[in-house]
Amino acid sequence: MKITIKYDDKFMIGEKGISESRINSFNKRLMDACSWLKKLHNAGEVGFLSLPEDMENLKHLKSLVDNVDKKIKEVVILGIGGSSLGPKALYSALKPAYYDLKPDKKRIHFPDNIDPNSFKALLNVLDLEKTLFLVITKSGGTAETAVQFMIVWDTLVKKFGEEKAKNHLIAVTDPETGNLRVLVDELKLTSAPIPANIGGRFSVFSSVGLLLALLADMDVDSFMAGGKAMVDSFLNAEDPTKHMAIRASAIFYLLHTEKNKPIHVLMPYNDSLYPTSLWFNQLWAESLGKRKNLQGEDIFVGPTPVSAKGATDQHSQIQLYVEGPADKIITFITVDEYKEKMEIPSVFSHIDSYSYLNNHSMEKLLKIELKASALALNTAGRPNGTIHLEKLDSYNLGQLLVFFEIATAISGKLYNVDPFNQPGVEQGKKYAYGALGRPGFEKEGKIMNEI
Ligand code: PA5
Repeated sequence: MKITIKYDDKFMIGEKGISESRINSFNKRLMDACSWLKKLHNAGEVGFLSLPEDMENLKHLKSLVDNVDKKIKEVVILGIGGSSLGPKALYSALKPAYYDLKPDKKRIHFPDNIDPNSFKALLNVLDLEKTLFLVITKSGGTAETAVQFMIVWDTLVKKFGEEKAKNHLIAVTDPETGNLRVLVDELKLTSAPIPANIGGRFSVFSSVGLLLALLADMDVDSFMAGGKAMVDSFLNAEDPTKHMAIRASAIFYLLHTEKNKPIHVLMPYNDSLYPTSLWFNQLWAESLGKRKNLQGEDIFVGPTPVSAKGATDQHSQIQLYVEGPADKIITFITVDEYKEKMEIPSVFSHIDSYSYLNNHSMEKLLKIELKASALALNTAGRPNGTIHLEKLDSYNLGQLLVFFEIATAISGKLYNVDPFNQPGVEQGKKYAYGALGRPGFEKEGKIMNEI
């Protein structure tokens, strides 16, 4: 299958960015990183590259969705981190904006937090008879998701009784381990698996993203095909160092470590792709921000991701990027062909600051503003690049998400860290467990009580 997305990196290269000769002289490191990732993939230690061809699971998910009661009109994702950001990115990118305001369409909700105000407000507006909850947690033990689930389960059982409550739940978790799996077995809940070798932020092509995508009638086959096209183009490349994701990793890494650009801004000029930049934040930050290197020594590394949206943040953040500290790389995302056309009518032609807009279109204005921002940044010596999607459909989105996943994994090797763990979030969890009286965390509880 064809690769249809492009990364235009001309404003990253040269005097104001990184030279082509430096990228070439970096080839051996890139080759090593590619071999490392392929080895982990072939050994089955890292599973994200296999997900877009897992047709067996897709078949299973389709049959689960076929059995969902036709009266279901609300779907709530109970999850956090990769277990919510991935499905939300997918949903926002592929469903038309405000789609769920139409009365005949399913409404999808991503509470993504444990704020009692918003969670209670959500439960209050749902018609539980017509609601399906997807409880998504790879580990099965994430406190926020556990709390959301406990409240929902209690509410459902009180309303419907235990047997009927189960019709309103599907659990998405590890097929063998974790406490949600224990409950699935104990209560005989409907469930879908997340393979053991997949971490939350690399899980969007697993049941985590696909189940919601099927429930919301997206073109999942084409999403998988797009993801697979990007995987294949990497695995089968004659020279993987020329692959767009590998070249991008090299440019980002060299700009950070040799040109002092530790901040990476991802700025789609598109409302529907803004949640993709939030998904990327987690992917980039949790995978690459590490204390220890692969040899176990302290190195304290990692680029800082920032989300922005064009044209909105031209009126908020671009000032900083053009004139503030020269410590950033900016990646724009643009969609070449918009589904909707909005012509700007020929009105107010007697006013100069309006008349020049007559007979153009919103799409044209958005694209020109992106080009102008890229050029202004370049003129100010700020490296930036633009990812082009032919159109915003499931095939192109599949490629885009795998592009970022490969770039992240390869960057992990370049920074000499493990991109697939997240030890830094563990300490905070332990303190919280201690403060809540969880057995085994008494020491942390004592420290929490003392401060
Ligand atoms: O990438 C990760 O593994 C994490 O950020 C998880 O997505 C997040 O912590 C939620 O974990 P879980 O799916 O186990 O509830």
